Amino acid sequence: MTDKRVAIVTGASRGIGRAIATRLASDGRHVVCVSRSQGPLDELANEIESAGGSASSQTCDISDFDAVAAMIEGVAKDHGRLDILVNNAGITRDNLILRMSDEEWDEVINTNLKSVFVACRAAARPMMRGKFGRICNIASTSGLVGNAGQSNYAAAKSGLTGFTKSVARELGKKNITANCVAPGFVETDMTKDLPAAVTEHIKGVISTRNLGQPSDIAAAVAYVTSDDAGYLTGQTIAVDGGMTMC
Ligand code: NAI
Repeated sequence: MTDKRVAIVTGASRGIGRAIATRLASDGRHVVCVSRSQGPLDELANEIESAGGSASSQTCDISDFDAVAAMIEGVAKDHGRLDILVNNAGITRDNLILRMSDEEWDEVINTNLKSVFVACRAAARPMMRGKFGRICNIASTSGLVGNAGQSNYAAAKSGLTGFTKSVARELGKKNITANCVAPGFVETDMTKDLPAAVTEHIKGVISTRNLGQPSDIAAAVAYVTSDDAGYLTGQTIAVDGGMTMC
């Protein structure tokens, strides 16, 4: 059994998940980097280890619920503990409500919401055994204030905030906290194809007048999942440059 806190980060191959994995490793965690393809994960784990951190990688499609449960149980068994779970992997399938297909709805709800339920259910037992747990679910400001063209995504992300509060109420007495971090607009592959005019408009409604960087989100996740954050639970922290303030 390792003496480092063991953290699982889903969607670690790029963007926000990659920044979270790197940050948690530099804070002294052993990070299990999870995503669908092995290549980028191995590259990340090697990068972390070269920088003096501790990491391993594991492929898992989070929309395969049996695979998610098996992955989490496997990590807890292999390392003898599971301390931190960051449910970061997520997708968009944007469309206006009049045009949205059942498939677009189901894919986003399953990947962004149901997979998080399955992961938290599987993580609860090893965290209870270890008498410590930090769950951080990556939500979105779209789930807080809505966004045209994203009714499926906003429903899933808003669902995460209610789900997380319930988990926090159930598991708080076991020294397990559960919080959401809700990014605003962050420069990643997910937002890179926005038309320039849209990006300029978005910057205009952000108090700090800039898009966020993955490291901005990672810094919030690092605190929420730290030992110091034991009295913080059931919260959704918007890291959005003051775009929503709700
Ligand atoms: P991204 O598209 O750059 O990366 C998503 C990651 O999730 C990738 O590693 C991808 O391989 C993984 N992933 C997707 N589906 C998966 C599946 N079925 N199984 C396993 N892994 C899967 O996205 P980004 O921007 O880094 O977003 C990360 C999280 O932050 C997502 O939950 C997203 O909804 C959320 N978010 C992002 C915002 C942004 O402006 N970029 C704003 C608000 C929330």
